[in-house]
Amino acid sequence: MKALLDKGNQAVDELAKYVKDRYYPAYHIAAKAGWINDPNGLVYFNGKYHAFFQHYPYDENWGPMHWGHVVSDDMVHWQHLPIALAPSEDYDKDGCFSGSAVDDNGTLALIYTGHVWLKEAGDDSAVREVQCLAISHDGIHFEKQGVVLTPPDGIMHFRDPKVWKQDGRWFMVVGARDANDVGQVRLYSSADLRQWQFEQILAQTDDPDVYMMECPDFFPLGDSYILMFSPQGMKAKGYQYRNRFQSGYLVGKWQAGSEFKITHQFAEFDHGHDFYAPQSFEAADGRRILISWMDMWESAMPSKADKWAGVLSLPRETILTKDGKVILRPIKELESLRKDEKKLTNLYLTKTQQNLELCALQSELMVNIDLTRTTAERAGLKLAASADGQQAAWLYIDNQANRLVLDRTLAGEGVAGYRSIPLPQGNTLKLHIFVDHSSVEVFINDGEYSFSSRIYPTNNDRTIYLFAENGDLLVNDIEYWALHNMSEN
Ligand code: FRU
Repeated sequence: MKALLDKGNQAVDELAKYVKDRYYPAYHIAAKAGWINDPNGLVYFNGKYHAFFQHYPYDENWGPMHWGHVVSDDMVHWQHLPIALAPSEDYDKDGCFSGSAVDDNGTLALIYTGHVWLKEAGDDSAVREVQCLAISHDGIHFEKQGVVLTPPDGIMHFRDPKVWKQDGRWFMVVGARDANDVGQVRLYSSADLRQWQFEQILAQTDDPDVYMMECPDFFPLGDSYILMFSPQGMKAKGYQYRNRFQSGYLVGKWQAGSEFKITHQFAEFDHGHDFYAPQSFEAADGRRILISWMDMWESAMPSKADKWAGVLSLPRETILTKDGKVILRPIKELESLRKDEKKLTNLYLTKTQQNLELCALQSELMVNIDLTRTTAERAGLKLAASADGQQAAWLYIDNQANRLVLDRTLAGEGVAGYRSIPLPQGNTLKLHIFVDHSSVEVFINDGEYSFSSRIYPTNNDRTIYLFAENGDLLVNDIEYWALHNMSEN
């Protein structure tokens, strides 16, 4: 594999010469160049956070998957390491697909899917997918150990192993598509990461449209277990499930050896355009953190013109509420990126818009809106806006539909469409917003909801407007920061 890794590393350095700043993130994980999708192998190992990702180093489009690799002390400032895995063996020759990482007594073990096309490349009707192991002593160089689990009879699509240790035993969930095209999550256990035994089908979809559950993950949170996965095939239903594929979770009760009893049905994690294949891991202090791929299959990716595509979301802390909802909050470590703090209070607008003259390519905002005195038909913010306000991502309250909307129709190249959530109850609406060169992430009321969407503004102003149409907008206060580039501080 060494020669193939060297070749991949060289290729990515070559492509990186074409990368431009305009869309390239300042504080999100991305490859130096080339393609990325799912986060893989998120783990705290030997005092550092490691994140891997699905990566094609030769081109800005998806191809035979490698594992890219970054490392960090704080989950905010990430540094690139050499590519960790490249397809090299019969069992993974068409791709080292998604998987996870564990600390096995000081050895970093990666468990991933070896993917082989049995007909044409890209023909999903005939594939072979097996689970494989690779290990490392220094956390940088990995040695493949071969195949550790093959699919049961009748199953071809069998991928994305997520492994954890519990009561001295390893467990693994794997996503699968059964012989009748029903999506399921299968559970296995092992004493040594090498010999795996089937335990049970942890969950099987009852939605006849869902044919596959990709990227499963299973972990305790509060007094329950969360089974998260990325179902394929779900149809749009009103305001819900509007992306090409979804990602969400079930809440339930479980203990080893017994069935998973669902207490709360499927819910989506995020309500923006670009959030897929999330994976979780435990931070050094026990927080359960989640990171996703902040893109969507088959979406426009104008950054391809600059020889790269794909970013990962900000790390989010997961919290289970009493009513069985997983809320996501940006991790507090992100505050270390802040600079140039500004604060504005008591902003009152009526039938107008106002340029706040807050400009930075990358910024963070906390906005408190007084809902009792906001009467405008549409009121809110224009983000990453051009100086004239014509180009922007619109985040606003729709007073007639009683919803909060993120509309990226005018947010630059290639993107379109709006997403919305029911306007939360209460007198104040709290918006916590992160804007990077080609993304916006909005956390509403301390993580009750979130929107994550890619935008591709062509303007260099990236300013912020407030606006109120046909009525009033009352903003109690806005706290604003320009943000450092993560390589800068
Ligand atoms: C999810 C996914 C995984 C697979 C990987 C391939 O986005 O389709 O199921 O392992 O991407 O890159």
